[in-house]
Amino acid sequence: METTIKKLCIAMVGLPARGKSTIALRLKESLEAENFTVSIFNNGEVRRSMLSANTAHADFFSPENHEGVEIREQIARQNMQAAVDFLASGGDIALLDATNITRARRMSICSGMSPIPVLFIECINEDKTLLATSIAHKTKISEFGHMTFPEALQNFEKRIQLYESQYETLRSEDNFVILNSLQNRVVREKVTDDIPHYPRIRDILVSDMIPNLYLVRHGETYFNRERRIGGDSRLTEKGLHQAEQLAKHFQNVQVPFIFTSTKTRTIQMAEIIAACQEKSVHVPLKELDEIDAGICESMTYDEIRKQHPQIHVARSMDKYRYIYPEGEGYITLQPRIQLGIKKALYLSGNAENIIIIGHQAVNRMILSYFLFRRMEDVPYIYIPQDKYFHIVSTQTKKLFELKKF
Ligand code: F6P
Repeated sequence: METTIKKLCIAMVGLPARGKSTIALRLKESLEAENFTVSIFNNGEVRRSMLSANTAHADFFSPENHEGVEIREQIARQNMQAAVDFLASGGDIALLDATNITRARRMSICSGMSPIPVLFIECINEDKTLLATSIAHKTKISEFGHMTFPEALQNFEKRIQLYESQYETLRSEDNFVILNSLQNRVVREKVTDDIPHYPRIRDILVSDMIPNLYLVRHGETYFNRERRIGGDSRLTEKGLHQAEQLAKHFQNVQVPFIFTSTKTRTIQMAEIIAACQEKSVHVPLKELDEIDAGICESMTYDEIRKQHPQIHVARSMDKYRYIYPEGEGYITLQPRIQLGIKKALYLSGNAENIIIIGHQAVNRMILSYFLFRRMEDVPYIYIPQDKYFHIVSTQTKKLFELKKF
């Protein structure tokens, strides 16, 4: 009996494209690293492998489509039984990865798994641009292979709407966590029973998981040459050469995601790197744009000193807190950069390697997110154009190194 009590079923809850599978996989990998036997039972995978007829059309998910409803319930029961068998034959933790958006479905999970306790983890995230990007990526999977991109998008969006029409958030269930899966923040939680490993699981949910982040600054630009700030300058010959060197450096490392700002200089870098990769998605994020220098945009540091001496003095006295007139300061960059990091991590799922191509001030803020630095030192962190930072931050490993390419 003792061993039964230590077993656990975790059931994911949430609309499509809310990060459920990423969280499930993260839980599996982290718990396995602690010698637990964990398995994921994914309803979508069973549906895709079991049904030869294509079920990517939104109609399949309509509550009015009784045949579709019955097939999906049958898949849920099949996976639940597989989870019960797994736990009975030595497994420790079974993860049910599906939308599980109705209370009725969740009640059937609790009774089907009994006496094994069930912890529900609901993933929520309503960031519109992120959802659009995430949905666009999802429509590229083979399930949608026979459709054009607009058709796939339309069907996936419709599918989400159909789920939304039946959605019931967690409330009366005995054990649950509602997680903002973009911010890794617990929004609400309730734990009535003795849920095995709960503190460990909660800790995994709120931690960033960064297997390998390569943080790069764009190469030299025409503005850099003149010590001109901001703007949207292109890379110089030297900058292009730096991009090519970097592309060569990473050509044998599979980098499925490259995140940049929306500025030409970082996009040029990404395109050159992506050209040397077998398959790499480039995602520009506005959150990673360089600090907005307001009325000083496109001026040289010398021009600022001469034309706006008060700005020069005030900024040198407290560079972190100084905010450019009509622009930003390091202090105001902080929430935007943090959101950019979270978006990049969310979109890259559990990818082994990701590259972020940023700017001087942006990269300082990204570094300060991972490293402890006193606020007043952050605006002076050294951000070269011929080296990159390799950052690893997982439950068991923290690494930080500056590497030349
Ligand atoms: O000079 C390049 C640049 O990226 C500018 O666009 C930006 O204003 C500046 O660096 C940020 O660095 P600092 O805060 O040291 O002026």
